[in-house]
Amino acid sequence: MIAISWDDSYSVHVESIDAQHKKMMRLINDLNRISDSGQDEGQLELALINLCDYTRKHFEYEESFLEKYHYPFYKSHQEKHAIFLKTIAQTKKDLLNAHGRHKKKKIDTIVFWLKNHIIKEDKQYVCFMLEHGIK
Ligand SMILES: [Fe+2]
Ligand SMILES: [Fe+2]
Repeated sequence: MIAISWDDSYSVHVESIDAQHKKMMRLINDLNRISDSGQDEGQLELALINLCDYTRKHFEYEESFLEKYHYPFYKSHQEKHAIFLKTIAQTKKDLLNAHGRHKKKKIDTIVFWLKNHIIKEDKQYVCFMLEHGIK
């Protein structure tokens, strides 16, 4: 099942960040598909590791971008990223001990958070970027 697909309304009007969000959506969908199909543990773990690693890189990039242009809510945005990275790291550990429905619930939480972050919270810096002509 597709958890999220790109829509131009999700654009933050910064080409490099849009490209990263598109890739994250592909990785989210991979994870969701593997989780739904009940494929083996190894596949699920690999998809989660791929998503985790890419998410961490993306957060670093996005934070350096926001800091560079003195985005006024940089700190709170960074904190949201940091909290989520802790959650995802804990989930990675928990997944090894979880079964069936519990496993699915944990994956769903990650998918929901990321989806919500990309389409709502990241959108909050768009006005600032547009007003300052940053692309
Ligand atoms: Fe982002
Ligand atoms: Fe973000």
